[in-house]
Amino acid sequence: SDLYGSSRQNSDGVEFGHAVERNLLVEGMRKTSAPFTQAAPLGTGLSSGGEAHPVFSPMDGTTRVGTVRFATRETAQEAVAAARKGFEAWSRRPVHERAEALARLGDLLEENRDRLMMILSMEAGKCLTDGIAEIREAVDFCRYYAHEARTLFGEGRLMPGPTGEENRYRYRGRGVFVCISPWNFPLAIFLGQISAALLGGNAVVAKPAEQTPLIAFETAKLMYEAGVPEDAFYLLPGEGDVGAALTSHPAVAGVAFTGSTETAWAINGTLAAKRGPIVPLIAETGGINAMIVDATALPEQVCDDVMMSAFRSAGQRCSALRLLYVQEDVADTLLKMLEGAAKELKLGDPRLPSTDIGPVIDEEARDNIMAHIHEMSESQTLRFAGDLPSGSLSNGSWVSPHIIELDQAEALTREVFGPVLHVVRYKAKDIDKVLDQIADTGYGLTLGVHSRIDATVKKVVDRLSVGNVYVNRNTIGAVVGTQPFGGSGLSGTGPKAGGPVYLTRFALEQVVSINT
Ligand code: NAD
Ligand code: ALA
Repeated sequence: SDLYGSSRQNSDGVEFGHAVERNLLVEGMRKTSAPFTQAAPLGTGLSSGGEAHPVFSPMDGTTRVGTVRFATRETAQEAVAAARKGFEAWSRRPVHERAEALARLGDLLEENRDRLMMILSMEAGKCLTDGIAEIREAVDFCRYYAHEARTLFGEGRLMPGPTGEENRYRYRGRGVFVCISPWNFPLAIFLGQISAALLGGNAVVAKPAEQTPLIAFETAKLMYEAGVPEDAFYLLPGEGDVGAALTSHPAVAGVAFTGSTETAWAINGTLAAKRGPIVPLIAETGGINAMIVDATALPEQVCDDVMMSAFRSAGQRCSALRLLYVQEDVADTLLKMLEGAAKELKLGDPRLPSTDIGPVIDEEARDNIMAHIHEMSESQTLRFAGDLPSGSLSNGSWVSPHIIELDQAEALTREVFGPVLHVVRYKAKDIDKVLDQIADTGYGLTLGVHSRIDATVKKVVDRLSVGNVYVNRNTIGAVVGTQPFGGSGLSGTGPKAGGPVYLTRFALEQVVSINT
């Protein structure tokens, strides 16, 4: 259909300000009641995995959302061996057939929106605005990559050459691609990697994050329904050891990983230690993302944009703002506004439209973030700490929004993956030092600039090799096909997800030269 053709458009979301649309979603979710998913390894010819474990919602720590049987190291071996066989037929399928299956998956995601939203809320603590944006992103990945694949992976391109010779440049599948994804976009990133790898003509063994196996399982079933063969796509719910078993397997032809920089280093080490084919790694990792606000910026707009960038998704976005540089002339005014706005944010049941912030993913994440806050409170200035939910939610994994003023930017040494905004003042004459400090973190994922001076904006953009720079707006929610997303340095290898060359890194280039 034309949806996937030249007039391709991103999917519609929900207009939350519109009562009818909002109520349709809430009613639809209510009708799905509490889906109870029994997740397990999926794919042709796999054994059933380990024992079933309950999965509890981070919202209260007690509501059971489903069960999961984790794959074992043995399941990982079985899956790679089986996927190698599945690769043969899948890679020979014409690209339009592969694209049709993935585009159909986009339709199925939309048809199952309310159920997927319910699972995202219950399992991952996503509130409605974040969950709906994630479902949209997943749909857009499927359709955008299906569209790109038709152009890139067809018959190939005839290259210029001498008379009497035909030179055709084309792409083909690499083999078995391992896709390892994080819990913070357990649908969109999980599917974005897999759809690109499948469209590139590869068979896929996917290992979703151990915290979010249920949404992965439900999505995997939709993939089969959409027409992806059960021997070309394998789902292995499991912990890091399953990911390690997969990446160390000698028959793996490529790895797509999104997660922490530490895990990317570990995978890089595993791949480097293998004596065999050199295997490409696509790694998308974290960041200590900064925003620079000078005295010419519009304070109300800055305040809105900072709230979104730092606290949406409880700060659990790789793109989230961690360190806000404010020119000292406007710092007191802005800090007061930020504290006032943070006070208005409502923590609560993520299924309710009135909720702004849901729980963090689990107790371990909560303890880690709170340890950072306590440590910082001893040497820096805690400017704001929000209230926690009470009553039936009091045993959940909650961290309220916090604002900490630093006496120097270097006090923040790592990515803190939660709703904690760090603020530091700078003098206008020191802007070069600020840029040096940002560059010296070694990360390069997102960056915000709020200034009405063109020369300042240009200087910042030209100086820093950050993947996604946002000027006079928030720094989250990159749009597929419009803001290809991904960073450099400690933040990853590229290519950018949702961008025009992403698919090519999943495929093998081949040139066939024929003497005619
Ligand atoms: P993580 O690195 O702990 O885990 C990610 C995945 O790797 C999980 O599936 C995990 O089981 C697996 N894993 C763990 N050890 C492994 C090993 N040795 N070998 C193979 N696989 C292994 O990350 P997380 O906590 O799930 O996610 C949060 C991190 O992800 C943050 O740092 C965030 O910035 C980053 N992130 C980056 C992007 C991006 O596009 N750049 C997007 C989302 C999240
Ligand atoms: N693509 C996600 C964002 O931009 C990570 O927030």
